[in-house]
Amino acid sequence: MNILPKACLFIFLVVNAIHSGSAVFKSKYGIKTIEYPKESCQRIDNVRSKGQCLGACVITVDKIVMISHDESTKTCMCCNDISGSDIIGPNWKSYALRTFPLSDGCTTYNLTSHQICLKYFPVRARYSSARNLCQAEDGDLIKIDSQEKYDIFETFHVPIANNTLIEVWVQGEKIEGQWKFDDGTPIPNFCPIFPGTNPEEIRIRARGSTSFVCWDNLNIALFHYSCEYPVN
Ligand SMILES: *[C@@H]1O[C@H](CO)[C@@H](O)[C@H](O)[C@H]1NC(C)=O
Ligand SMILES: *[C@@H]1O[C@H](CO)[C@@H](O)[C@H](O)[C@H]1NC(C)=O
Repeated sequence: MNILPKACLFIFLVVNAIHSGSAVFKSKYGIKTIEYPKESCQRIDNVRSKGQCLGACVITVDKIVMISHDESTKTCMCCNDISGSDIIGPNWKSYALRTFPLSDGCTTYNLTSHQICLKYFPVRARYSSARNLCQAEDGDLIKIDSQEKYDIFETFHVPIANNTLIEVWVQGEKIEGQWKFDDGTPIPNFCPIFPGTNPEEIRIRARGSTSFVCWDNLNIALFHYSCEYPVN
């Protein structure tokens, strides 16, 4: 069915990845993120450039979420699983792969005042990793700041859940006892927060199948995530 275009795109990506310069790499394939590669990523040795790292990752792993390259050790990490612990080092450069929000896998919704586009990542991640990867592409974790937004969140996630339970990180951190969005504004109660008793549970994930509640959890817990992107 779609085999020829896919094969062409694949070759295009590999050839381009290998030959592209830094600027092209950045604008087309990935955008820098402060994430470290994880123990759960696939390691490839003797890779000289980040372009070659991307080329190698495209061949090696099916769904790339992030690549990391260390020029000093010529190490390339292909990450479709970011659940492992950080591999800390001074020379890692990590890139979240562009998801081309409007064309691929991103669903656009009209709010009263503007449009947003939502994309679900079935990738287990810590809250901070999920947020960094959304932000790398000028997005963020979904901010449920109105009834309209909660309804859109639900409309988008009910078919994804398909009558099973899903849990996704949404924007929210407890700061000095108060639930706040990234920009410091307090979180209104559109997605009901059920506070647990553990004081370390200072992040929120939405949980449900046909309707959703927001429960707190630890930053290091692993859940899927969905990003919200602005639409111009
Ligand atoms: C959303 O708004 C755009 C333009 O503002 C319009 O073209 C489009 O039909 C709307 N989509 C829906 C689903 O209402
Ligand atoms: C939803 O779940 C049903 C029952 O498990 C399954 O048959 C169906 O293929 C699923 N649909 C999607 C879109 O995954």
